[in-house]
Amino acid sequence: MRRNKTSLLLLLALSLLFGGCVTPLEKTDTETSNSQGFESVAQSKEESSSDTSPVFGEVAEYTYDADVNEAVLTTGYDARYLILVNKEKPLSRDDEPAERVLLSCNTTYDMELESRAAAALYEMLREMAADGLDVDNDADDGARGYDVAVTSAYRSYTLQEELFAEYIETEMNYPGGFSPDAYRALGYYYIQKEYKDKGITRLTAADARRVAKSYSAEAGKSEHQTGLCVDFITEDMNNSLTTVFEEKPAFAWLSENAHAFGFILRYPKGKEEITGYTYEPWHYRFVGREVATEIYLEGLTLEEYLQK
Ligand code: DAL
Ligand code: ZN
Repeated sequence: MRRNKTSLLLLLALSLLFGGCVTPLEKTDTETSNSQGFESVAQSKEESSSDTSPVFGEVAEYTYDADVNEAVLTTGYDARYLILVNKEKPLSRDDEPAERVLLSCNTTYDMELESRAAAALYEMLREMAADGLDVDNDADDGARGYDVAVTSAYRSYTLQEELFAEYIETEMNYPGGFSPDAYRALGYYYIQKEYKDKGITRLTAADARRVAKSYSAEAGKSEHQTGLCVDFITEDMNNSLTTVFEEKPAFAWLSENAHAFGFILRYPKGKEEITGYTYEPWHYRFVGREVATEIYLEGLTLEEYLQK
């Protein structure tokens, strides 16, 4: 993962060669305005990029400790990996990755990912292992257990629908009345005035939905439906996905290196107004190495990058 000169021309050639091999999102109905608009943004970026781009230069200087297949990570400005999904840009029920694979790395249950993103993920995990992180679920892990597993990857529209309904239920039935997320999303004053002062100890369905929307996507609005993103977890987090992940060696590693494998931190701290979601140190999105590096170096969100 350290610096060394590699041929820029080779990278650009690989980018051209591998840029068009896979098709992440298959439209089974007519194209939505989401993907159409997205194509044109990515295309104009491709046209405006040049051989002297400092971003390509920076990518070229990255040296991998493991025997990493760099071609897998190099997609150029490929719209298929830049699709934007958020509260304003939903997918339809029928959108799904054209090609997805069952993940063969350490996962907390069986799950699938878009095939190119999966290939890049495997390269990244090999590098993490080369850098001393425990990426397996072996019995001899010791007290800390594995340093990284994937705990969520591709999620269908239907699965997201079910998850979101469960979150609403959880918020409405939170032991003691109101979850920390409820206080954060609705505000202490609101809960005091609208509930506690009135002796009400259970959120309404509408308020529970508002809370759930702050941390979870409604069906169609989760980029997990693209199959291009993963949630990471460590063994000692006991299946509970919280910001504790920020304190783990895996997060430190990802913060420094994920971009060189084509992945970005999708929901950064302080960018909640732009992404529409609370900070998620565990959620990484594949966009390809060049774009990931540009986003990383400039401290952008995907939304900001696509509007540049
Ligand atoms: N937690 C992210 C925003 C999702 O549900 O896709
Ligand atoms: Zn996620």
